[in-house]
Amino acid sequence: MVQQAAKEVIPLMTPYKMGQFQLSHRGVLAPLTRCRSYGNVPQPHAAVYYSQRATKGGLLIAEATGVSATAQGYPEAPGIWTQEQVEAWKPIVDAVHRKGGIFFGQIWHVGRVSTNAPIILLFDEELVVKLVTDFPLILLEEFQPDGRAPISSTDKQISPSAEPQMVYSKPRQLRTEEIPGIVDDFSLENRCRFAVEVIDAIVREVGAHRVGIRLSPFADYFDCVDSDPVALGHYMIQQLNKHKGFLYCHMADSSRLLPLRKAFNGTFIAAGGYDREEGNKAVAEDYANLVAYGRLFLANPNLPKRFELNAPLNKYDCSTFNTQDPVVGYTDYPFLEDGSNNDESSIQA
Ligand SMILES: Cc1cc2nc3c(=O)[nH]c(=O)nc-3n(C[C@H](O)[C@H](O)[C@H](O)COP(=O)(O)O)c2cc1C
Repeated sequence: MVQQAAKEVIPLMTPYKMGQFQLSHRGVLAPLTRCRSYGNVPQPHAAVYYSQRATKGGLLIAEATGVSATAQGYPEAPGIWTQEQVEAWKPIVDAVHRKGGIFFGQIWHVGRVSTNAPIILLFDEELVVKLVTDFPLILLEEFQPDGRAPISSTDKQISPSAEPQMVYSKPRQLRTEEIPGIVDDFSLENRCRFAVEVIDAIVREVGAHRVGIRLSPFADYFDCVDSDPVALGHYMIQQLNKHKGFLYCHMADSSRLLPLRKAFNGTFIAAGGYDREEGNKAVAEDYANLVAYGRLFLANPNLPKRFELNAPLNKYDCSTFNTQDPVVGYTDYPFLEDGSNNDESSIQA
């Protein structure tokens, strides 16, 4: 009898159940701003780009998407605050769904990095946390924090009686004399308050089982750096854990995540500098449930297939990360030469 060679188990390629979502492998497309949404409206070429990277049962997190005009800080980054933008996302989501992919949107406000806002916004504390919230695109409608009462993003109506004390005010510049008071009261609770309230509101709207978050407590970006990122991360995770079934927590910085990963009750996604080997190790050692790939996925449309075959990878080209061409550096990275898994390219822009 011929002994069959035992098939190598590739940890990254093993299935995983994330809440209600059955994932077929552990490699996630990390959120990547690509600056090709002209006038902040997602374009048909994004359907090609994302569907190239979609696999049956694979998780994709879309690029950060502004919640308002004031949320924008990068040229031609997409938004989701107008009906036109919402409609433009739909064919992109459909293209990913046709491939069997699971697609989460990432909504953000860039805070003081905004190119279209007062220099200091009332919710500046949150920006130190540098937090963005992810949730399924499909449920979004218009929402503009410009002083208008919020509009429901689902078919559920917002009941004014639910929050009778809530006053919606326009973001405004802080007066100089207000600033010391805010700095003095820089407790963890106050610094995280805005983020926590956003999470609470989204969970109320769509359910915790559909909401994930990207936290970057270790980040050092635009002069935002925290003196005690572990305490900051723990505080935020405690708040997430209050929502039973909160879906995922996604953290970049590959080396210091273990205590936070252990504290979080849901699916933990690690990101930051992973390759195939490191990703396999992270999954095998239970350092993370899933591993998100940014630059490698950007340059390798069928990255999971390449991981499965241990095939060579295309090199990424930083010079085209944030250029505006609808093809170059975006949808023209080559697939595997053998043509496998190349059916993605059949979707036309
Ligand atoms: C071009 C580019 C755009 C990015 N855009 C986003 C973004 O929109 N939202 C986000 O949370 N992270 C963003 N990131 C960070 C990535 O999601 C990821 O954490 C980072 O690239 C590290 O992972 P990597 O080493 O696998 O590339 C971006 C990174 C790059 C290189």
